[in-house]
Amino acid sequence: MSSLKYVLVTGGAGYIGSHVIYVLQKTRRYKVISLDNNHNSKSAALDRVSQLSKSELGPNPTDQERESTEIDSHKCDLTKPEEIRAVFDKYGKGGIWGVIHIAAYKAVGESTEIPLTYYANNVSATVSLLQIMNEYGCHNIVYSSSATVYGTPPVIPIPETTRLQADSPYGKTKVMAETIIDDLCHSDKNWRAISLRYFNPAGAHPSGLIGEDPRGRPGNLLPLLAHMAVGRVKDATLKVFGNDYPTPDGTCVRDYLHIMDLASGHVLALDALDSESKVFDADAAAYCKAYNLGKGKGVSVLQIVEAMRKATGFDYKYEIVGRRRGDVPDLTADPTLAEKELGFKAAADLETMCRDLWNWQSKNVEGYGPQ
Ligand code: WQD
Repeated sequence: MSSLKYVLVTGGAGYIGSHVIYVLQKTRRYKVISLDNNHNSKSAALDRVSQLSKSELGPNPTDQERESTEIDSHKCDLTKPEEIRAVFDKYGKGGIWGVIHIAAYKAVGESTEIPLTYYANNVSATVSLLQIMNEYGCHNIVYSSSATVYGTPPVIPIPETTRLQADSPYGKTKVMAETIIDDLCHSDKNWRAISLRYFNPAGAHPSGLIGEDPRGRPGNLLPLLAHMAVGRVKDATLKVFGNDYPTPDGTCVRDYLHIMDLASGHVLALDALDSESKVFDADAAAYCKAYNLGKGKGVSVLQIVEAMRKATGFDYKYEIVGRRRGDVPDLTADPTLAEKELGFKAAADLETMCRDLWNWQSKNVEGYGPQ
């Protein structure tokens, strides 16, 4: 019987999921199960992760070390409880120790157009997942939340004590799911949960083997700039959504952190759920906490364009257009709580993020290919 802890990662084939799985495997303490509906991901990503992990095994790996580089991958639609239950059933009651729940729709603008789809996929599916986890005796969850839960924050940098007041249906789904998990933990101290409020992940594993590969045209700034530089997007000019914000150069400011630092934050959070961990006070009302994952350093749209110009050598042209619905002026984290309690640190700088993004994109012009 393996002494590895079985951990289920929803959205495992995605940009964040694949990097989280890589870092989980690197610990050699976890066996990863991946659930994904491939709505915005390709299963080839998991093959690459496994290949990368295997390449880093020592000369005479133990059976357990080999097992830690295998991924049990399941195609699963989280809006169908029967599909979730079928996966848990394969491992039996108590078979899965914890869940890292990353799968969600995440486009702020799109969420204002199809809110019901977002509530079904990001909230109802989370309730189903929690119910089935409970049925199978699995009470440890790391939840992928977002800086968008803060809406337009009153204070910058943003501490976790800031009121949760999302401006978009997407952000509201994240607030709802955090609230559901918090209520669950207050109802039953068998549960241990950590919500991670992501700021803006960027870059790729330095090998260039895995990276961000969204289906269709990227909605986010950095992958769009990468696609422009390799010619996957034919636009000659970047549209900058507004330069009349109350920021140093008028364009929106975001807190970008390297995807590898973000992924490491997930392993630190998962380890913190262990019963031996000191993160939760024994007499706490609930074993449930939320942490920002960011660098604590704001970077504007125009600064990102300049950083990508340096990393890619591509001569970006841009034009200022109207603001994008749902955008807020500045989302910069106060990361000190995660640094203090989890030992988290987003160390990589912007130049490294852009260099690793370009290393991935230039080696994989078509991403993982057509699947
Ligand atoms: C960044 C800035 C745009 C495209 C993302 C995720 C969201 C959440 C937070 C996880 C904004 C500007 C963009 C373009 C532009 N992550 N921009 N022209 O909005 O911070 O959200 O991170 O929960 O799910 O989507 O990131 O990259 O879309 O935008 O001017 O063509 O770049 O207006 O100011 P955002 P983004």
